[in-house]
Amino acid sequence: MSGRKEEASRPMASARTWFRRILTTIIALAVLGIVVVSVGWWKFLHAEHQVFDTPRDRFQYGSLGSELVAGIPYPIFMILPRVFPDLVEKYAMQGYGPKKPGWGGYDAFGLAWEQGQRLPAGFSIRRVGYDRLTINCALCHTATYRVSPDADRVIVTGGPAHTMALRNLLDFLFAASHDARFTAARLMPEIALNVPLDWLDWQIYSFYLIPKTRLALQLAESELKWTQTKPAWGPGRDDPFNLPKYNLLREPLDDTVGNTDFPALWQMGQREGRLLHSSGEAKTVYAVTATSAFGIGSLPGHDFRDRNQWIVDYLANLPAPRFPGPVDAARAARGQAIFDAQCGSCHGANGARTGTSIPLEDVGTDPGRARSWTDDNAARMNRLTGALGMTGAELQGARGYIARPLTGLWLLGPYLHNGSVPTLADMLSPPDRRPKTFYRGYDILDLNSVGFVSTGTDAEAYGYRYDTTQTGNGNGGHSYGTALSPDDRRDLLEYLKTL
Ligand code: HEC
Ligand code: HEC
Repeated sequence: MSGRKEEASRPMASARTWFRRILTTIIALAVLGIVVVSVGWWKFLHAEHQVFDTPRDRFQYGSLGSELVAGIPYPIFMILPRVFPDLVEKYAMQGYGPKKPGWGGYDAFGLAWEQGQRLPAGFSIRRVGYDRLTINCALCHTATYRVSPDADRVIVTGGPAHTMALRNLLDFLFAASHDARFTAARLMPEIALNVPLDWLDWQIYSFYLIPKTRLALQLAESELKWTQTKPAWGPGRDDPFNLPKYNLLREPLDDTVGNTDFPALWQMGQREGRLLHSSGEAKTVYAVTATSAFGIGSLPGHDFRDRNQWIVDYLANLPAPRFPGPVDAARAARGQAIFDAQCGSCHGANGARTGTSIPLEDVGTDPGRARSWTDDNAARMNRLTGALGMTGAELQGARGYIARPLTGLWLLGPYLHNGSVPTLADMLSPPDRRPKTFYRGYDILDLNSVGFVSTGTDAEAYGYRYDTTQTGNGNGGHSYGTALSPDDRRDLLEYLKTL
């Protein structure tokens, strides 16, 4: 009996051992799996919540949630100027380049860098696994100026980033991505100087993040190849509607050039109910915000609407800065009467045509921008954003040019949508007497003619040569106020300083 029992229990015992082994293996694999997934999640996806002291900081350095689509590793981004100083020099805005004492790194592209910040306004650093760098609204919507060469630089939230040379910055990054030095062997020791890296980080950077970043930059470059076939943006501008037209809608290349200045975002609450964008493509600040965020990689998701609504609310009452020079009050008072009579209907707070589109035939300014976006383009864009569940983001085709309220006008130079007229004094001169070429992107104010210094050796050293004969750069039209007597023009100019 006992022998039989033994015989029967042997296979049972070995079955139990097998079962135990399989179970142990499964548990071990599961634990390993959990460890790998957790480490993977921690190293790649664990998202940190950003905290800011002030709403202003949040606007300038906050994330739009585009890390997974358009983020690049901050530890790689930050060392590139150090590894490629020759490329910084090649693509820098000349005067802001590395030869100027005190300037260097990303400053060379005319960015608004505040003391004590890790990066200039317009960049967010948010940990999603690793620190990922993305851009936000402030990149194009933060102004810098100085009242004289030895004065401090003033940074104005929501102002136009007129010194920011986006294309130069991109060209620098693209050139670096093709350079033989863009390797783990060259970059890792530099990264390790700034960031504590464990063994696993070292592997992740060497074998994944560095090659991936290099590839991502090259892909972005090929996406933007079309810009090389069109006149340069120069500092303070991009081609805001051709970008989504070619890159999001994948429309075939056409011959339009819609180069447009970065505008100011002050007091946007007063703009609700009227048209926005140079050619009136949007009807609400929310629609502009949502489509802009989408354009730079933010996809509709759980907090898309709240984040964009926060921006809309922040901009609603964002104050415009006051003119930092003297104003002749008596002249300004006389100028106000001229403004009310000749400009108020289109630019006054309650003007009947303020925030409406003025047909091209009437305003007569360069038609390029208004031709760059049609009702057809808008309908396709609306289908795309609609399919993604973005509500309230509808756009329409371009309609002439919008007469905006002239809030903070003194800081909006060069003037007109394409930035083709350097100063307000030139705006009040007949179109054929406005400068044909000048330099833009220098940050010293011209307190008399109102605008930025646009001629002379310093403007030439810092600035970009703007040629009004290039397609899209025309400086004609808008001859309102140009027939006034010199004295009346002086009065009007004095008033315009106070807006
Ligand atoms: C890469 C540069 C860039 C970024 C980033 C950017 N914008 Fe703009 N923005 C522009 C340009 C250029 C225009 C001018 C378009 C036009 O008027 O035709 C513009 C126009 C606007 C306008 C219309 C202003 C007016 O007077 O009609 C608003 C509002 C605006 N942007 C808000 C935002 C917000 C909010 C964000 C972030 C979610 C943002 N922008 C991100 C370049 C940028
Ligand atoms: C019929 C409507 C109309 C009248 C009247 C008018 N403007 Fe304009 N204004 C416009 C439009 C439209 C634009 C935008 C044109 C463009 O950017 O191509 C504009 C643009 C401007 C700009 C450039 C703003 C910027 O941000 O670059 C200034 C400055 C300006 N106007 C001043 C004046 C002054 C001063 C008067 C009165 C002497 C005046 N305007 C009268 C319609 C008008």
